[in-house]
Amino acid sequence: MVATAVVLLATYLALHFEKELVTSLEAGTVTERMISARSLVNALQLLLLAILAYLSVRALNFLIFGLAFRLRSGFEAPTLVRNIFSIVAFTILFFLIFSRIYPGVNLGALFTTSAIFGVILGLALQDTLGNFFAGISLQADRPFQVGDVITVGAQKHSGVIEEITWRAIKIRTFQNHVVLINNSTAAKEPIEVCPRENLNARSVFFNTLFADSPAKTIHVVREAVREADNVSPRIAPIVRIRNLAESAVEYEVKYWLDDYAKFNDTDALVRQRIWYAFRRAGLTFAYPTRTLHLERKPRIAASDGAGGAIMERLSAVDIFAPLSAEETGMLAQSAMSHIFAPGETVIRAGDPGSSMFVVHNGRVCVQINENGRPLTVATLNEGDFFGEMALFTGEPRTANIVALEETEVLEIGHEAMKRVFQTNPDLVESLSYIIAERRQGLAARVETSSPQTNESEGILAAVRRFFGIR
Ligand code: CMP
Repeated sequence: MVATAVVLLATYLALHFEKELVTSLEAGTVTERMISARSLVNALQLLLLAILAYLSVRALNFLIFGLAFRLRSGFEAPTLVRNIFSIVAFTILFFLIFSRIYPGVNLGALFTTSAIFGVILGLALQDTLGNFFAGISLQADRPFQVGDVITVGAQKHSGVIEEITWRAIKIRTFQNHVVLINNSTAAKEPIEVCPRENLNARSVFFNTLFADSPAKTIHVVREAVREADNVSPRIAPIVRIRNLAESAVEYEVKYWLDDYAKFNDTDALVRQRIWYAFRRAGLTFAYPTRTLHLERKPRIAASDGAGGAIMERLSAVDIFAPLSAEETGMLAQSAMSHIFAPGETVIRAGDPGSSMFVVHNGRVCVQINENGRPLTVATLNEGDFFGEMALFTGEPRTANIVALEETEVLEIGHEAMKRVFQTNPDLVESLSYIIAERRQGLAARVETSSPQTNESEGILAAVRRFFGIR
């Protein structure tokens, strides 16, 4: 105001005493100096009026945007708008003053006809003008204003807008850093705006055990969250199940904020309220859980009905004929029952194997591979056994066994047989003899090999070796 008063006074004097000023400057000088005296006075007037115009524009700017705009909208007008107003107003005033002092000079033509001036100015101000016009277009759209929270671009610069200038948008991040984003960059990037005068929503996630009732959880959390600071009372929070996950029921609580700029604090407060509400209501946050269903192998006791039938079945198997009832009972206890569909392969030739099978119900066929085609060499019925070679000698399976109908087999493992042999080592010999006999018989039926007289001894030795029996 003091500056304005001084300039005003000086301007008044310069205008009012124009003639006297010129006369005093002319006094005692030659004719050429009269021209320079006039120029000097004009220049002085131009300077003073320009300063006055500048100060007036600033005062006007303050009155319009600083006071009137603030009173009407509640916040200050963007700096960019104020700057544009100042530039335009000052340029108009300057032109008016200039044409009054120098009526003969066409200032407009001076600027418009100077192509070189335009090119130089354009090149020098390329970026600046880019930012300037991008800023104007941003302001024209008015997508955001001071106080809004925005997130800009791929780098996700997020913060509260502090200022929008002719060059950049200035945001204060939630780490209290200041980030300047060029207007031209901002104009190209996607911008997420959470306007200050808008009810912006947030989502917070939590989970519970499956044992906790969803209806109760939803009620408890909604009531706890709706009373938290900065959670808008205008819209009730929404609590809903997002997912029935592996070890938890996953929920989302969506709430609306009065002041979005404080969303970090509010999220934290909401989580805190949920924790306390859970504690009071006896709800439990989920932790990774896994339910284990332990499969009990179908060991069928010889005492029950099925076990009795197995016992009966095994007793009828000729290779087990030498076993005592107790030994057969041990085998029956360890036997595992498997059911195969018609056409399913029970064992495959060439596979390793350490168990034998007894056909309990149904029928199977023994197949060997002849010229790439399966050839059935025998059919085994209820009470027959197969897979004894692998069990007693450790050799690979010699043939395929395929179920001819739905078939139940009893599997007897290496360990069970070893226990039987250990309690009665004499059994090895008789078992080997029976096996050799059966093998010779089978071999004769399919005519694949000639019976060997000393096969029993060979098997006996192999079985002893395999089971570690002397
Ligand atoms: P393993 O060699 O363990 O597996 C295939 C089974 O098929 C074999 O034991 C015998 O039990 C059975 N097997 C092989 N050849 C014959 C055959 N000629 N007659 C009956 N059964 C056989």
